[in-house]
Amino acid sequence: MAQTVFITGTSTGIGAAAVRLFAQHGWQVAATMRNPADAKFDDLPTVRVYALDVTDGEAVTRVVQQAHHDFGGLDVLINNAGYGLVGPFETATDAQIQTQFATNVFGVFAVTRAVLPLLRSQKSGVIINITSVGGRTAFPMNSLYHATKFGLDGFSESLWFELAPFGIQVKVVAPGAVATDFATRSLQMTVDPTDDDNPYVGQVRTVLEAFSSRMSADKQSTAEQIAEVIYTAATDGSPQFRYIAGADAQQILTAKAQMTDEEYLSTTQQSFGLA
Ligand SMILES: NC(=O)c1ccc[n+]([C@@H]2O[C@H](COP(=O)([O-])OP(=O)(O)OC[C@H]3O[C@@H](n4cnc5c(N)ncnc54)[C@H](OP(=O)(O)O)[C@@H]3O)[C@@H](O)[C@H]2O)c1
Repeated sequence: MAQTVFITGTSTGIGAAAVRLFAQHGWQVAATMRNPADAKFDDLPTVRVYALDVTDGEAVTRVVQQAHHDFGGLDVLINNAGYGLVGPFETATDAQIQTQFATNVFGVFAVTRAVLPLLRSQKSGVIINITSVGGRTAFPMNSLYHATKFGLDGFSESLWFELAPFGIQVKVVAPGAVATDFATRSLQMTVDPTDDDNPYVGQVRTVLEAFSSRMSADKQSTAEQIAEVIYTAATDGSPQFRYIAGADAQQILTAKAQMTDEEYLSTTQQSFGLA
């Protein structure tokens, strides 16, 4: 019988690419997204689209149960929905901070809790959380996004222990820069970069410029390349916990591992033009 994967945030980017890849491998796919009108999976007969905003706890429970019922099982959960909140911490509004955590962290908690009784009762399953290179290392002007992704990384590592006795694997896939809507349509800012009166605006402009050069097309992975890593994590049956996805992410984390904290901070400060 075909296996079933449940994926959040599948309208664009990594989530959409993962839907396609799993379906092409014969999987049944519960493709969830905030607005099902955005779905582009008509050519994939094993894909069903469900409306799901991961910040809506009632909907999370209902959609997980509906997908489980529709497909007659659930084998893999991919917590992918998320976005970046960029800019100084001080000028972030309460609403921006709450929505960032509601989506990137509490959304993952809610979907995971809805899925766990199903996986536990069948004594198998894989939970894959899409974190980021930014869940293991920090860049300037991203404090709140990093707080969510570092949080997710620690959450996942601890969950690994408590779910192992039930035959459930927890894994993280940590991409570097990926060519998706992440840095454009989906990005939220805590500051208006044209506001000359903001005391952080000089830093913001410098960092945004550095990011735009780092995110240039030739340095980014494609969403399809990250989907391949996610598929490997879901199917390789190995005990591997963390999958660093993308040459840039590998290079950054390898370099960081060889530095003291202070060397890392100073090197990063210089590479962003802030020193
Ligand atoms: N691209 C990168 O450079 C990069 C690097 C490291 C990690 N990541 C991580 O990869 C994941 C996917 O991002 P992406 O690069 O594919 O960006 P993307 O193209 O912007 O896709 C993000 C997806 O998340 C969805 N989403 C946002 N808030 C949601 C909510 N409350 N409920 C349900 N879905 C929601 C978006 O839905 P809508 O269409 O409705 O907005 C969209 O489908 C994120 O967790 C991100 O942090 C990305």
